[in-house]
Amino acid sequence: MSEAQAESPMSAKALIGIVLAAIIGIPVFIILVVKLFTGGMAIEPGNPSMTNEAIVARVQPVGFAKLDDSGPPGSRAGKAVYENVCISCHGAGLAGSPKFGDAGAWGARISKGFATLVEHATKGFNAMPAKGGAADLTDDEVARAVAYMGNAGGAKFTEPAVQGAAGAATGGKVDPAVKGKEIYEAVCVACHGTGAAGAPKFGDKAAWGPRLKDGAEAAIKIGIAGKGAMPPKGGYSGSDAEFHAAAEYMIGAAK
Ligand code: HEC
Ligand code: HEC
Repeated sequence: MSEAQAESPMSAKALIGIVLAAIIGIPVFIILVVKLFTGGMAIEPGNPSMTNEAIVARVQPVGFAKLDDSGPPGSRAGKAVYENVCISCHGAGLAGSPKFGDAGAWGARISKGFATLVEHATKGFNAMPAKGGAADLTDDEVARAVAYMGNAGGAKFTEPAVQGAAGAATGGKVDPAVKGKEIYEAVCVACHGTGAAGAPKFGDKAAWGPRLKDGAEAAIKIGIAGKGAMPPKGGYSGSDAEFHAAAEYMIGAAK
């Protein structure tokens, strides 16, 4: 839309028309989408299919994204992901989402820390659908968009780097399970492979059990922060999302 405006000067009337159409059209679109996935049901608070979790579960596999023109999957930068997906809610602050560039709305979110925000954006959080509804985004792409939006709201996050040519050449789509195994075998195995330095050994249910009593996410958070002989992220220098994948791979083997 902004390109069209730049090319041909527009009358104020036409501009107001477009702005009004956007203001009215976007919420109507969202209501229609929600209705579609709830089978046109009336919104009853007690209806189990109307919980945020239920709505997110229905919306997630469909996605709103049209990302084809912004680079191969896996390689898209935070700005491109934001402009193609997240903007549909965060651009205007729809549905209670923190508005892009609004430091007041982002301050309290930013103080949760990058890892938590990435997790919420990846897995969903209340009315925030998992990956903003674009299931085709990789975890790293979501993390980049979180960094891009967070920084616009006053944070100093480092946007996870876009993978090298190798990733892009294979189509760019990195299966988190494959990536997690790779990182485990390159980094975590040094201690967790044998249980060196008191590390819970790979595949050892008894060693992992007590660490997982508060859930995998709690254990992964401890791993990111570091604990005792476990250095922050196990010394891994990549993104939190990648560490997350490696930890999930280990935890999966101990279940
Ligand atoms: C369908 C609307 C919608 C889309 C699309 C959307 N969001 Fe959100 N987002 C929300 C809402 C609503 C909240 C506030 C949830 C709450 O605090 O209860 C939110 C909150 C967030 C938060 C803060 C979470 C926290 O812990 O406070 C992050 C980070 C975020 N979104 C990232 C993203 C990213 C990245 C994208 C694009 C990939 C995206 N969102 C797309 C609606 C959306
Ligand atoms: C230098 C050795 C070392 C490396 C390398 C290492 N870890 Fe650890 N890790 C430990 C030790 C020791 C503990 C137990 C810490 C404790 O309980 O005091 C641990 C604990 C953990 C925990 C459980 C945290 C808890 O207590 O709930 C997770 C998750 C974890 N590591 C993930 C990883 C991942 C993922 C990697 C690779 C990216 C990795 N670690 C690499 C030594 C290591």
